[in-house]
Amino acid sequence: MANQEIHSEYGGVVPELASRAHQQNIVPVVQQALQRANIVKKDLSAIAFTKGPGLMGSLLVGTSFAKSLAQGLSIPLIAVNHMQAHILAHFIEEDTQQKPPFPFLCLTISGGHTEIVKITDYFSMEILGSTLDDAVGEAYDKSAKILGLGYPGGPLIDKHAKNGNPYAYKFTKPKVGDLDFSFSGLKTAILYFIQREVKLNPSFVKENLDDICASIQETIVNILMDKINNAVKKTGITHVAIAGGVSANSEIRKRLKALEKTRGWTTYIPKFEYTTDNAAMIGIVGYYKYLSQSFDSNDTKATARLKVDE
Ligand code: KG4
Ligand code: ZN
Repeated sequence: MANQEIHSEYGGVVPELASRAHQQNIVPVVQQALQRANIVKKDLSAIAFTKGPGLMGSLLVGTSFAKSLAQGLSIPLIAVNHMQAHILAHFIEEDTQQKPPFPFLCLTISGGHTEIVKITDYFSMEILGSTLDDAVGEAYDKSAKILGLGYPGGPLIDKHAKNGNPYAYKFTKPKVGDLDFSFSGLKTAILYFIQREVKLNPSFVKENLDDICASIQETIVNILMDKINNAVKKTGITHVAIAGGVSANSEIRKRLKALEKTRGWTTYIPKFEYTTDNAAMIGIVGYYKYLSQSFDSNDTKATARLKVDE
């Protein structure tokens, strides 16, 4: 396990630093994983790696390393789509987790993506709606930056929001299509609001941090719930999942769960440890692709922009 705490100092992921850290950590991390699983390299049957989407420098390190390892061990190579992996994380646990039946809808929310996806089979996915600008994770991270909180901002806003009044301040919701999202206007509205208030009272943020966070969170969660509701209405599919880093959010989890009772949906909320980026979600995709012998050739390319249906 290796995390990249350095990014919190800069208020975001610095691509150059991320690539260097990947290069430094990849060999020891793989060694640790083998040790912890109590296996050796020759026990492996295939190598799964993240092909994209993501930061090119980090993807290149992983792709090159995976290819070399697969070639050295003469075993198959399996390219994994990071967004499919977030969704298929719902299938990691054998018994402890209720698995969504096909077809189901998934609100896929991370630092780079905000999508409503219809999943008809493990590798048959269709995007029904997505963000026209910023991702919801970015909205959290940028709001946190405006408030002088650290990075990643999502968990920090979530924490402060728990003690605040969600109706203290009102931010308008964007006017976009039924299943589309837009978060850049919200970020600007928050920036102007804070600038205005700080002019009147320099301690405004400090004195009202919990209420500000709760109000931001309320706006974001309402937008997400409206959109998923639209998707259920449109498709008639009432099995609804969430996935991606932002699905760690306590309010989103609570509000979605509550819809089971009020709307009669069945909801699927991933275990906390499978929400933000993790290796198990790449592993589960590798597993299903291995079962169907869906392997990739050695000229597979890392791809910074990759859609969930690619
Ligand atoms: O999926 P992820 O780990 O990485 C990407 O693929 O982007 O998602 C990271 C995002 C960050 O924007 C982070 O602020 C957000 O997930 N996040 C949260 C929470 N935990 C992580 N957002 C809101 N509430 C949380 N509790
Ligand atoms: Zn992710």
